[in-house]
Amino acid sequence: MKKVLLNGTYAYSNFISDTEKDYLLGWVNENKHKFPPNLASENRHFAILRNVENSPLDLVKEIKSRIIDLENIQNWKEEPLMYDYIGINSHGGAIHPHTDPNQGDYIHTRYNVILSWPEKGGESIYGDNINTLEENMVWKCVAGKVKHASKTTLGPKSRITLSLGFLIKDKFLQDQFVEHHHQQVEINPQVREVI
Ligand SMILES: [Fe+2]
Repeated sequence: MKKVLLNGTYAYSNFISDTEKDYLLGWVNENKHKFPPNLASENRHFAILRNVENSPLDLVKEIKSRIIDLENIQNWKEEPLMYDYIGINSHGGAIHPHTDPNQGDYIHTRYNVILSWPEKGGESIYGDNINTLEENMVWKCVAGKVKHASKTTLGPKSRITLSLGFLIKDKFLQDQFVEHHHQQVEINPQVREVI
């Protein structure tokens, strides 16, 4: 696992193993029919995992606790609208620019794990920044403060994300980008690619 700087945020590459990714993607494949369409735009489906029978909640909980330890996330609550979910953008699917609701000074924050990345498109838009992401990576999205979106997925391979939801008390939502600024951070040129 390596911390990588993205444009406007940061990520950890190889945060999940291929085994974990394959397990989650296998579950998605077998349970695709349980993913309701997202009416906000076409070719998008998403499932709040706690609402789906037989969802891989144990593994998701374990992955979530890893992020909490890694990022030293303190004073947080479960995000009560979307909780932890898996989103699928298939060919033609995009996410329009939006922010997600906070709860007072608890800021909606999402750690998004990339399970499947399309052959073309799907780039993440975060504020004024564009990032090309990669599978097995987790990236931090301060969804309640920064307008975010994703470009249209193109081709047969879907963009599939496991999104872990938190409400983090504002004063504990440290800007780890600054906090860890003096750490050695390897910048992956593929990840830094701007389109
Ligand atoms: Fe969002």
